[in-house]
Amino acid sequence: MTALAERLDMAVTLATEAAALALRMRPSPGAATAALKGAQDWLTEADGAVERLLSQRLQLAWPADGFQGEEGGKARSGSLRWVVDPIDGTANFMRGGKRFCVSLACLEGDTPLIGVIVATALDETFVARAGIGARLNGAPIRAAATADLARATVELGWSRRRPTADFLALTERVIAAGAMPRLNGSGALGLADVAAGRTDAYAELHINLWDVAAALVILAEAGAIVSPFMQGDGPLTGNPILACAPGIAASLSAATGIAL
Ligand code: IPD
Repeated sequence: MTALAERLDMAVTLATEAAALALRMRPSPGAATAALKGAQDWLTEADGAVERLLSQRLQLAWPADGFQGEEGGKARSGSLRWVVDPIDGTANFMRGGKRFCVSLACLEGDTPLIGVIVATALDETFVARAGIGARLNGAPIRAAATADLARATVELGWSRRRPTADFLALTERVIAAGAMPRLNGSGALGLADVAAGRTDAYAELHINLWDVAAALVILAEAGAIVSPFMQGDGPLTGNPILACAPGIAASLSAATGIAL
């Protein structure tokens, strides 16, 4: 087995274990009690516990690999680097919702090579490795063949990191172009849905590396068209993202103003 194949197997095992831990720690439905990093920016105990588990297990398995997590930042460096979002979709998770996941990627420099997204409460595991394809629960996935925005569903991502007016303008442009907008609260799962052909695009004006690192491999392997997230300071400070079914990529890029 090659070094990357071994890492992929281990990544699936560890992300599954981490996602099970998250599920055990998921709060019951009701008013949110989690701490806030800022308005609408949640920090749950599970975020820290899941990130620690992945960091420790990966260090044991590959001491020379780097590690970067949403909560702890760049903890270790290495030519291969693991990038983790311990819980993506925190706003759903901390209300007892199902739409959250653990996102785990392995990068060489700034090139994502392995992507694993485990959504335990949905019973869904997305897995991809550069050059060998993308799968959902073991079955190959492909971006949709949609060619007309009037038939397209586009998920939008929102955070307070960009002005409200810019988000509203993006939403208006997507609707004016003929597409149906959605907002489901997990960037990683929103992107994975494009790869699986369940939506036609995902657009967000600013997103961070840990939210997208695993999905970038899954999208590329599923034949989706994705904006150059890694360009400029993307890996450090984030970038906009547009991920599309190929047949609507040019028209949606023109409509949203997010370059491909
Ligand atoms: C957020 C979610 C959200 C996206 C934001 C992310 P978190 O991550 O993915 O859907 O729109 O940009 O920050 O807080 O759930 O890890």
